[in-house]
Amino acid sequence: KDEPLVLGIETSCDETGVGIVRGHTLLADAIASSVDEHARFGGVVPEVASRAHLEAMTPTVDRALADAGVTLNDIDAIAVTAGPGLAGALLVGVAAAKAYSLGLGKPLYGVNHLAAHVAVDQLEHGALPKPCVALLVSGGHSSLLLVPDVASDVRPLGATVDDAAGEAFDKVARVLDLGFPGGPYIDRAAREGDPGSVFFPRGKYDDGTYDFSFSGLKTAVARWVEARERAGEPVPVADVAAAFQEAVVDVLTKKAIAACKDNGVSHLLVGGGVAANSRLRALAQERCDKAGIELRVPRPKLCTDNGAMVAALGSELVAAGLAPSDLGLPADSSLPI
Ligand code: KG4
Ligand code: ZN
Repeated sequence: KDEPLVLGIETSCDETGVGIVRGHTLLADAIASSVDEHARFGGVVPEVASRAHLEAMTPTVDRALADAGVTLNDIDAIAVTAGPGLAGALLVGVAAAKAYSLGLGKPLYGVNHLAAHVAVDQLEHGALPKPCVALLVSGGHSSLLLVPDVASDVRPLGATVDDAAGEAFDKVARVLDLGFPGGPYIDRAAREGDPGSVFFPRGKYDDGTYDFSFSGLKTAVARWVEARERAGEPVPVADVAAAFQEAVVDVLTKKAIAACKDNGVSHLLVGGGVAANSRLRALAQERCDKAGIELRVPRPKLCTDNGAMVAALGSELVAAGLAPSDLGLPADSSLPI
């Protein structure tokens, strides 16, 4: 009960998230999404996202407070995503967090979005093992991190050199005329397909790095589908979805397991929107079991962008006694980990 009540604000992409936590206890996770407004463009439109955040901010904070059964005056600290993300979108959250901090006279903590994706798992599975390796895969990022301590020491091992994994799912879904965002559609279509029906190239599979590349895969799928269409043959959507998905999750899990083994780490955390993928979860579990690694994956609602993850990391920073940010805290679209 002595642990501080932390309010977290997330606006790095298209979700306005407001979470409230006390220690590792999740009290509220309110979210407003502008995803439907972006659907007809086939991708997130930054200006549309910023305006939606502005409109959703106060109602979402109010909803989180009501869900947690607390008032603004009960809040002990404010945490906010300072980056990386869309500059204009981040600015809305950072400005709101500064206003709450100033108005309430409570400390402000700017946090890194990627570290927050790691910290959120503590709300579901308790304290993170130190160290752990984290595989973060979403529409905006695909990274492997070595995490000795989520509050103070998060080290990048590798990242995508081109498209993020979720971006590849979204682009391939467009090629297959499925909906947006494409990940869940591909996941569903793939269940009826044969992953071995086509072999798509795995970028950077054996290059000895922890980096990823998905743009070649996306192009290979597009070329394959175009060739079928040109030949006047039907496109086996389920098979293509399954084969594409297999290529992505094969390389993701291979490198994640290698990162654990090479660093003598026995716990792997998978987070980000793509962690909702059923095949990624299954193959990660299978390969972790084989390698004697314990796998932690938060439930899907905590994997996609949300405010609880920001509050979870803020709570960790407070507990570690780290200095708060000052009111000059910038929103940094390319904030390094
Ligand atoms: O973490 P997130 O909500 O937002 C970003 O920071 O990007 O991730 C969204 C991404 C989208 O690209 C979406 O297609 C993907 O996660 N995604 C999935 C699944 N559910 C969401 N990808 C594969 N399989 C899924 N089941
Ligand atoms: Zn994210």
